[in-house]
Amino acid sequence: MGYLTQTGTDLLRAEALLREGELVAVPTETVYGLAADATRPQAAARIFEVKQRPRFNPLIVHTDHPERVRELVSEWPPEAEALAKACWPGPLTLLLPRSSRIPDLVTAGSPRVAVRIPDHPLTLELLRRLPFPLAAPSANPFGYISPTTAAHVAAQLGGRIPYILDGGPARVGLESTIIGWEAGQPVLYRQGGIPAEVLEPITGPLGQPAPGLKPQAAGMLGSHYAPATPLILGDLRSLLRGRNPQRTGILSLRPGSYGLPPGQAIALSADGDLREAAQQFFAALRTLDALHLEAILAEPMPDTGLGRAINDRLRRAQAERKAAPDLPSDSVS
Ligand code: TXA
Ligand code: MG
Repeated sequence: MGYLTQTGTDLLRAEALLREGELVAVPTETVYGLAADATRPQAAARIFEVKQRPRFNPLIVHTDHPERVRELVSEWPPEAEALAKACWPGPLTLLLPRSSRIPDLVTAGSPRVAVRIPDHPLTLELLRRLPFPLAAPSANPFGYISPTTAAHVAAQLGGRIPYILDGGPARVGLESTIIGWEAGQPVLYRQGGIPAEVLEPITGPLGQPAPGLKPQAAGMLGSHYAPATPLILGDLRSLLRGRNPQRTGILSLRPGSYGLPPGQAIALSADGDLREAAQQFFAALRTLDALHLEAILAEPMPDTGLGRAINDRLRRAQAERKAAPDLPSDSVS
């Protein structure tokens, strides 16, 4: 769209652009966001255009302070207060009934708005300076891998936005966990940067969304987070059999020797640390995708803590090629 995209740490520049209704990519602790004034429909509409995201897929609204969150919602239950105290700023998004400040476009017409306070000093400072909250999805084209560095954003949205605020590599590396309530019961809509094990002592057991009630729809599109290279999930050594190692990539938790050319096997953590694995995950997937191999083989992570959120992304990345005809009509990006 004819921008000379610049990357830097100029908060005044970012602030001025956002006040003019422009888009700015901003760092958060989870992934980079593509931000615009959440109270201005024309500004938020540009997000959908630039991301090529369907309009039925709503946006998360970000602000800097719990008092300001309360202006965005029409109800603030004690459970939300408890989660906010324990987790904000941080990788948790709450789905709550929206106030009239939030335009229809941002929630895709839903009576609920997704809100969070991100934990990144630059973006928190930016939010403090702005008189409005920021709507921000992950700063990737719809359906592709989420960006965890400013360079990832530039590689895909360069030329389409004026400015990328560079806050370094994202510390958590996976999108926020999304929680809401259905008939008073807490529901997990998307696994993410805060594991369910940390939330359940506060919320009680987290349920699944009711099938008919899936919102438009937190992390629920079958194909998602997808590299262009086919990704296959399973036991690495069995998957490797019969494949050409020269044309194959491997994504594992710990290092192993698989007989692939250097750089084609990426281990997410030398000692199997799931936090480190989460932090490295999207960048590793991008690196392997850029090699244009025949396939990327990935092993499931241990089914605990952040391992479950990584497995969720791996399954969606794998679903890209398989599940297209069966996709639910609701979706995420
Ligand atoms: O960590 C994150 O959450 C990042 C950073 C930038 O904050 N954002 C992010 O946004 O991952 P996005 O748009 O890529 O994913 C947000 C998810 C989508 O699946 C969307 O459908 C869901 O949240 N969502 C947003 N608003 C919603 C609403 N009002 N009702 C139901 N789902 C909603
Ligand atoms: Mg996304």
